[in-house]
Order: sequence, then C-alpha cells, then structure tokens
Amino acid sequence: MSGTGHRASETQEAAPPAEPVAPSINLEVVQADAELSSYIAAADRVMEGLGYTEHGFRHATLTASIAFQVLSRLGFDERTTNLGCVAGYLHDVGNMVSREMHGQTGGLLVHHTLRDRVPGSDLAVIVAAIANHEEENGYAVSPEAAAVILADKSDVHRSRVRKSGQIEFDIHDRVNFAAEQSFLRVDSDARTITLELSIDTGISQVMEYFEIFLGRMQLCRHAAEALDCRFKLTINGAELA
Ligand SMILES: [Fe+2]
Ligand SMILES: [Fe+2]
Repeated sequence: MSGTGHRASETQEAAPPAEPVAPSINLEVVQADAELSSYIAAADRVMEGLGYTEHGFRHATLTASIAFQVLSRLGFDERTTNLGCVAGYLHDVGNMVSREMHGQTGGLLVHHTLRDRVPGSDLAVIVAAIANHEEENGYAVSPEAAAVILADKSDVHRSRVRKSGQIEFDIHDRVNFAAEQSFLRVDSDARTITLELSIDTGISQVMEYFEIFLGRMQLCRHAAEALDCRFKLTINGAELA
C-alpha cells in the first residue's frame, strides 16, 4: 500500500478544537417555569394521596443538586452536568398522572412542555434520564441517567415522612424515618460512589433496608458502573456493599 494517504493526512490542517457547547437549558429556567412547577406540586399531591413519602420540591431540588455534583465531580462537561441536573429536578413529574410508569409518563410530559425551547438532541437526553430512573424498568442509559438514579435513590431521610406523629408507619416510612443522615460521597480518584447512611436501628432494622432497597441498590451499582465507578453502601459506618 502506498503512503499517499499518510502524506495527505500529514498536510491536512488540524481541526480547530470544538467550541464548548453552551447549555440549552439549566436548573434556574425549569425552576422558574410555572407549568413545570405545577406538575411537581401536582405529582406530590398524588403521592400524598397514595400515602407515599414526600416527592415534591424538596426531593426535586435535592435530586437535581446531587445529580449535578456527581457529574461535575467526575469531570463531565457543562452540558452534561446541566442536562443531568434538569432531569434530576423533573424526574418525578410523571407521578401527577399515576405512580405506575411515572418515569416514562414524566419523560413525555417534559418533552411536551419543553419541545419548543430545547433542541431535540438535548431534550432526548433529559427524557431518557427521566424515563429510566426507577428500578422496575430503568437502566443507566447515559451519564445523565446514571446520575439521576444515584441522586434519587440516595434521598433517604426522615424529613420525607409525612406521618411523623403517627406510630403506624409502613416499612417505607420506617426506613425513611430511621435515616438520620444520608450522604452520597463521590471519590473521583478512587472512582467510588458511596451512599453513607446513618440509621436509628431502634426504628428500623438494617434488614428492612435490604428489603426495600435491594432493587434500588442494584440499580445504583449499575449506575455507578456506567460512570466507570464502583458503588459502595455504608450503614452506620459499616460497609455492606
Ligand atoms: Fe420516581
Ligand atoms: Fe424520586
């Protein structure tokens, strides 16, 4: 084979470095959107009606913040961190329709609301991350989806329980109410993502966590692997996974 191709490539001008792509949307924009805000409020009312833990603005904002932190700590660019953050904020809006399939429903609702404002390529990323956040039928299909999964599943805390004055907690309430602290630690050097939980074992035993969280933890493990990290779980300082 002649060296023609080689010589040709040597004389070609190097392509200029790609310009950083400005984010098409960010958290501030969706937080200021009246329609999307009404969806979050409506979704939380449905969840309250079903007897579920808090799924409103607190959960949305925290999930957005953690998703942003996960992606930025792992060195992802501004576009990726913003899209993951926005998807984290909006991930549970589908609950305003029904708990069943709320990821997929939410993805379509967000697509409908933002389709005239966000380019299709970015909107597709947001929709896929929203649609894939639950363990029943979700997969870490992208860095943004992986970050939303990890952020969502790490929000385990007693402040989410609506019935703190009652003794008749169900297992979800007990597990959440027993959680005194939860923190998702990202170590970009060690490539580990650790969910650190402090629980009051007088309220809920560690076994109850596994009963509730086994599926969620498996999804978190896959999400961490999609980010080229290892997932770890510690409860009261003891490493369990
Ligand atoms: Fe959800
Ligand atoms: Fe959620």
